Amino acid sequence: MAGWIRCGRRVVLGALVPLLALALAGCGITGGEVQSANETFADNAESIWNLFVPIFWLSVVIFVLVQGALIWAVIKFRYRDGDPPPPQLHGNTKVEVAWTIAPAVILAIILVPTITTIADLASEPDEPYTVDVIGHQWWWEFEYEDEGFKTGNVLHVPADQPIHLRMTAADVIHSFYAPQLFGKQDTIPGRTTNIYFTPEEPGEYYGQCYEFCGLQHANMMFRIVVHEPGDFEAWVADQQDGAPDPEPDTLEARGKEVFFQPGAACHACHAIDGAVAEDGTEAVAEVGPNLTNIGERPILGAGALENTPENLHDWIRDPQESKPGNEMPSFSQDAISDEDLEALVAYLSSLQSERADAD
Ligand code: CUA
Repeated sequence: MAGWIRCGRRVVLGALVPLLALALAGCGITGGEVQSANETFADNAESIWNLFVPIFWLSVVIFVLVQGALIWAVIKFRYRDGDPPPPQLHGNTKVEVAWTIAPAVILAIILVPTITTIADLASEPDEPYTVDVIGHQWWWEFEYEDEGFKTGNVLHVPADQPIHLRMTAADVIHSFYAPQLFGKQDTIPGRTTNIYFTPEEPGEYYGQCYEFCGLQHANMMFRIVVHEPGDFEAWVADQQDGAPDPEPDTLEARGKEVFFQPGAACHACHAIDGAVAEDGTEAVAEVGPNLTNIGERPILGAGALENTPENLHDWIRDPQESKPGNEMPSFSQDAISDEDLEALVAYLSSLQSERADAD
């Protein structure tokens, strides 16, 4: 018997270890770190957790009672040789009424805190700071309308300030969710949905799209950087200043030319606030993410890659390699030579606000 149990345990462990390895491998993606709803850093996520915990324990009690009764009945009333057929209870009104009313009462009890929490999360706080969130296949656009700038895939907000995310989508339905900060909310083309939350602690938080939205749904991640209040204002001022212009006759200056030249024509899809070509062309297109200060973003391709010069090089040469199906075309040697690509990567990596340089 003991040997059988040990063998059984080995079988269970043998099955669990590869499953666990598979699950952990899934956590290795760039944007996948700590997306845990049980470590909360904002009021919104906290009220959801505070609703979840009592319902979870209530469910545990019901599970144990129901399964306990089931096991007890199976053992106590098991068939023994010579037993007559048991009495049939089909259509017993008392039992039918009891097991209809009991779950209804339990659901009615759960309904009260659930509706209160939903109403609470949907109510607009006093004087929130508003950021527009637009879901795209497959990246996130963040617009600071009053401040007059946009950014991509990394949302910056101040701590201890109610935040209002005013959300929509450009193409299909997506869902915006950062478990440590707030509950998930769909972003829907032609409609506005809202998330209200007050981040409590400065730091970097992870989130991603939670509504299947096509081939690269899994690579539609984002970060939320929560700043100390004074630090946030400095960040806003940096974004309003636009991108720094490279020193003349440098690799970066050559890279800026490549950005506008016909082979690459990055400006046909991307904006860089303040970047103007020698012939006066401005980078103002809005097909892909705004690249102002892209050099200080931690991720590329909405979390498909970490933002390093090597990854940026590979990303521009062949974005279809790491994120198949995305809108950005690959660039052959004919379109951008190796030297030009090196210059372009140097230019884009240099697009950092002065504050980032000083860090
Ligand atoms: Cu966007 Cu899934």
